[in-house]
Amino acid sequence: MDPLPTLKWMGDSLRLLDQRELPGNEVYIDCRDVDSLASAIRTLAVRGAPAIGIAAAYGAVLAAITTDSGPGFREGFLAKLDKLAGTRPTAVNLFHCIEMQQEVFHKTGSREDAIKALLGSADDLLSADLDASRSIGCLGAGLLEPDSTVLTHCNAGGLATAGLGTALAVVYEAWDRGLISKVYADETRPLLQGARLTSWELIRAGIPVDVLPDSAAASLIRDGRIDAVIVGSDRVAANGDIANKIGTYPLALAASKHGVPFYVAAPLSTFDPATNTGAEIIIEQRSRAELSSFGERQLLPTEAGYWNPAFDVTPATLITAIICEKGVLSPPCRRTVRNILAGVDMFL
Ligand code: MRU
Repeated sequence: MDPLPTLKWMGDSLRLLDQRELPGNEVYIDCRDVDSLASAIRTLAVRGAPAIGIAAAYGAVLAAITTDSGPGFREGFLAKLDKLAGTRPTAVNLFHCIEMQQEVFHKTGSREDAIKALLGSADDLLSADLDASRSIGCLGAGLLEPDSTVLTHCNAGGLATAGLGTALAVVYEAWDRGLISKVYADETRPLLQGARLTSWELIRAGIPVDVLPDSAAASLIRDGRIDAVIVGSDRVAANGDIANKIGTYPLALAASKHGVPFYVAAPLSTFDPATNTGAEIIIEQRSRAELSSFGERQLLPTEAGYWNPAFDVTPATLITAIICEKGVLSPPCRRTVRNILAGVDMFL
């Protein structure tokens, strides 16, 4: 499986496959400054925890390129990083990548130095993500039985990363090994990342996929039609709780109730030891507009209120294992998270 063209540095701009347009149109946007990139992240032209982190890392290069090299250069540059950090609150990859770029920046002198060092660091983050995806794919595939039917939620594929995915990296590898018979993809209300993006990716890879409304998932699990649930994550807390797209928690409840393994695939860049438990994770709240209409058609009476959280928290106790590039945390808990971050191998 080759990486998807999710994001690519073009020398003076960051080219993004515009995910708002998929699956109908495969169009690209070139972000030449931090404002256009911040808007692309906020509006989900680029999305998924690892992808927004890497996009922000290249955003730091754009910040250095587009800031005057006069006396205000350092403050101007840092203000642009703050703008990127203010785009979305839940995925920790964004903050890790920005902090990393800040450290790189503080070690540099001239603007030219900074641009070179920031670009090298962004390239490293991208290739580390590709390597992590490959390892996650191999480790995760090792957990699946032959002829497995798996259920996934949102899009944790190549579109959500530097190009290979996390949950879908497992699916791609398992498919190559002949272990997958079919994938069910939750449509993922309200922005339909599962219906629009996961199905697009899987069809492109020749993998059979059925899309279902989120509300049908529990029945599918209860009826014994799912061998494993595999999802991605936006943040793994120190105790193994995870945040992922809204609707993940009910899947974990249903899987636990019916004895189906519930796997989370997430690179170490998604781990956040500074967040003690899932309760501390800031959950992004999104606009009424995402719920109130479908295309031109109004869905909500004007008087209706709304609640539109983009993510939910799944407690570690409902997760069978977290698959990262350095091993499989089974069970995910404070001890296994601490060990994996300390470099202890946890290969099953
Ligand atoms: O709002 P999104 O589309 O950015 O949400 C993405 C998810 O919730 C993914 O499951 C998560 O980022 C993991 S991506 C490998």
